[in-house]
Amino acid sequence: MNKRVLLIIGGGIAAYKSLFLIRVLARRGIASRVILTKGGSEFVTALSAGGLSGEKVFTDLFDLTDEAEMGHIELSRSADLVAVAPATADILAKAAHGIANDLATTTLQATDKRVLFAPSMNVRMWESAATQRNVKTLKADGQFFVGPDEGDMACGEFGFGRMAEPEQIANAIEKILKGDTTIDGLRGPKPLKGKRALVTAGPTREPIDPVRYLSNHSSGKQGYAIAAALGRLGADVTLVSGPVAIDAPACANLVKVETTQEMLTACESALPSDIFVSVAAVADWRPEGRSDKKIKKAKGGISSLALTENPDILATLSTAKNRPELVIGFAAETNDVLDHARAKLSKKGCDWIVANDVSGDVMGGDHNSLIIVTDKGEETFPRLTKQDAARRLAGKISEHFT
Ligand code: C5P
Repeated sequence: MNKRVLLIIGGGIAAYKSLFLIRVLARRGIASRVILTKGGSEFVTALSAGGLSGEKVFTDLFDLTDEAEMGHIELSRSADLVAVAPATADILAKAAHGIANDLATTTLQATDKRVLFAPSMNVRMWESAATQRNVKTLKADGQFFVGPDEGDMACGEFGFGRMAEPEQIANAIEKILKGDTTIDGLRGPKPLKGKRALVTAGPTREPIDPVRYLSNHSSGKQGYAIAAALGRLGADVTLVSGPVAIDAPACANLVKVETTQEMLTACESALPSDIFVSVAAVADWRPEGRSDKKIKKAKGGISSLALTENPDILATLSTAKNRPELVIGFAAETNDVLDHARAKLSKKGCDWIVANDVSGDVMGGDHNSLIIVTDKGEETFPRLTKQDAARRLAGKISEHFT
């Protein structure tokens, strides 16, 4: 793997493990360029980090020579990924709040690359309300975490807070570089623990006769990613899925259906639920009276195929007696996306509508550009992988419940 990581070594006793990390990454063909924070340089030296990485080590934001050779903006973008190991409570707090007062934090603000944090701190600091809040914010922003692990700590206590081992961090880095955005080694409080979530995904299939059906191009990728993201945040997820060709996330209870009527029945029996995210591309109509026998080819074709309107699952659950507290619909449109989404919010009776423009490569593709429409306004996510979009949406959902 011919890649480059910008490794920020923070001020923690685990900094020595980051020197091993440079070696482990090099063995996997991943080069490291190091930023050593002031705290980090109390634990390891620039000489060691530079010797191991074979590259100049950056330490000070206001070093005129460094800025002239490679400014902090360029530095922040010169790598394929930024890894922060050890990520101290201080770095997490600054990153979560956009504080940029040294080279490391300025770089974190300026980067357009994915960021992986490997936290390392005393168990009480890790479990403190402030750190957990900051971690939640960073996760909702789409940042990645590996560890911390549970075990004996340098401070003599036992618990979560030990930095993940170099091999484990290197595995996470490799996975992210390969485009796997599902990694999440974060242990600790799960903000949606105790909440039930119902997610629909994929297309529905409406039979015309025993061999033919009406359906659409939905791949199920976005809905499956949302189910996985909610599960990772601790929710108890039921995923009601139409026919798709992808694997279900291990954390979800999967209910497979074909028709819209079956999807509605499965959703109703999954209630009560705190959250309902209606991602499925439900067929609006079904052929009236399915033929028991294969319809024979007739010269000149079939003059008409009568269609009946399908039940609207989203509208039905939005007005159900045991309506989930947070009901989120999707509005896949090819034109006037926002106008349609706003209209849908009231028509369907849901709390949020996630608008997406499906005129391009969204259906079946791996990316999505979502706009979250609520009665308070809109929030536009940038174009993201469906996994990242799901993480962000799940982060917003968890904020709603805290
Ligand atoms: O009306 P439209 O199909 O554009 O609405 C899209 C939203 O409604 C999506 O959240 C979709 O899952 C949901 N829907 C539904 N049942 C239908 C049609 C759409 O739940 N019959």
